[in-house]
Amino acid sequence: MTTTDATWWRQAAVYQVYPRSFADADGDGIGDIAGITSRVPYLARLGIDAVWLSPFYPSALADGGYDVADYRDVDPRLGTLEDFDAMVAALHAQDIRVVVDIVPNHTSDQHEWFQEALAAGPGSPARDRYIFREGTGPGGAEAPTDWESAFGGPAWDRAADGQWYLHNFAVEQPDLNWANPEVRDDFVRTLRFWSDRGVDGFRIDVAHMLTKDMSEPLPSRAELDAMPRDGAHPLIDRDDVHEVYAEWRQVFNSYDPPRTAVAEAWVDRARIPLYARAESLGQAFNFDLLEADFAADQFRRIVTENLELAASSGSSTTWVLSNHDVVRHATRYGLPHPERDADGRPALKHGNEWLLSGGRQPRLDRAGGLRRARAATLFVLALPGSAYLYQGEELGLHEVAELDDADRQDPTFFRSPGQDLGRDGCRVPLPWTRTGGSFGFGADGAHLPQPAWFGQCSVEAEEEHHDSTLTLYRRALALRRELQSVEQLTWIDAGRADVLWFERPNGWTVVANFGTEPFPLDRADIVLASTDVPIGVVPGESTVWLASR
Ligand code: NOJ
Repeated sequence: MTTTDATWWRQAAVYQVYPRSFADADGDGIGDIAGITSRVPYLARLGIDAVWLSPFYPSALADGGYDVADYRDVDPRLGTLEDFDAMVAALHAQDIRVVVDIVPNHTSDQHEWFQEALAAGPGSPARDRYIFREGTGPGGAEAPTDWESAFGGPAWDRAADGQWYLHNFAVEQPDLNWANPEVRDDFVRTLRFWSDRGVDGFRIDVAHMLTKDMSEPLPSRAELDAMPRDGAHPLIDRDDVHEVYAEWRQVFNSYDPPRTAVAEAWVDRARIPLYARAESLGQAFNFDLLEADFAADQFRRIVTENLELAASSGSSTTWVLSNHDVVRHATRYGLPHPERDADGRPALKHGNEWLLSGGRQPRLDRAGGLRRARAATLFVLALPGSAYLYQGEELGLHEVAELDDADRQDPTFFRSPGQDLGRDGCRVPLPWTRTGGSFGFGADGAHLPQPAWFGQCSVEAEEEHHDSTLTLYRRALALRRELQSVEQLTWIDAGRADVLWFERPNGWTVVANFGTEPFPLDRADIVLASTDVPIGVVPGESTVWLASR
């Protein structure tokens, strides 16, 4: 059984499961809850402290499950509530906590509330749970504003009776109206529902956008863009969102141990502590490494800034190298000049062939990318704070770039349209075995096709090699548990700009060589290394851990 330590999350290794692509017990091509339960021994052996499940709720899958049709149930394709309870029991029996995803900014258009809203018509209480407005221009045929959705295209869509509704993401994800007390009460019910079932914590999707000032006249897109994000912006990171979280905090603290939460909040750095405070959600994601190159100066700055930021709120920081929304880090570090999207995030543009190792321009350095990814992972796992790992990174998986357009599912691909390859490449079902119709994921097929090279990255194949990425993660996570100490580090001058060296108070020491020249280091106390380490040096693009044990 899990312990009752209320601070378990502060330095936890949290493993993100994308349920539809993890393990498929019933063989319908879609991963399910029973599949996760069947792999609890694997998760326990990996050495993680918690799993975070991306949405497993009933969904039409317009956005990979982030379009939730019922917040208090399991998608029938993934199982039942009883299956969920069995999974929680199996994970808890291994001392692994369970974090679930809550998606409060929007529902699915299939949610009964939205269906009611469409049927009830303008001015009805059912419509007031969402954000409906009259259009502009002759007959109200134009959207109320020129706002854009985060997935591209307009942020408004028109109901059959002529009113428009706001969707900051896909058309199938209408934004909720958080000024409506019914909406607030319902989410409190949802948080209690899962907490009562033994869930230990929550990951809050788009935590910075719930509350909105929709008073007329609504600003134009250009006006919105020009407004400061200081807590009074009409749509983003409003101060009043913390009234919602103060109420949620009371819910979390009514359990023993208190339920935890981590905010997915894309806000100005200085405002992250507002979400991470103990009175609010308690922890917030730090996504800085997702946008960084494999470069010592960037890593050092990011570590320093985020440790300070976390300290200012009393929380701990979070380290993320990969998740279900970004190109896998082995691939990012293998591209010569990662393309960036408008927000500065690495993006794969349609039509480039960088990722196709057999293509005409085989510019992805697969081995180099993986070498750097292993070094970055070992660096990050030794930092104070919690580490969020994304399923498959422990196998050193690269992004799957060779998906046919016809197989793609991500709305960002369709709404760009076709310009942004989207996020399917990091969501391809995991390979468990070397061979087989779906490499052990399920019976035959997988809902996103797996490439032939998945076999050699499978759990089965990697378990046979002492130097595989899986073995590295297992060793690192086991040692991390043993070595984890108070949340501090001290930088040590390595005398080279491309080498980072730090020490935790218990003597756990990390030397990361981000350059290509070997770094002389004559130490007998190396306990782990991301590559083969010849005596007396840390090779280029590798990290070593030192500890007296
Ligand atoms: C953030 C999630 O991580 C992403 O996958 C999703 O598409 C959006 N929020 C919208 O819910």
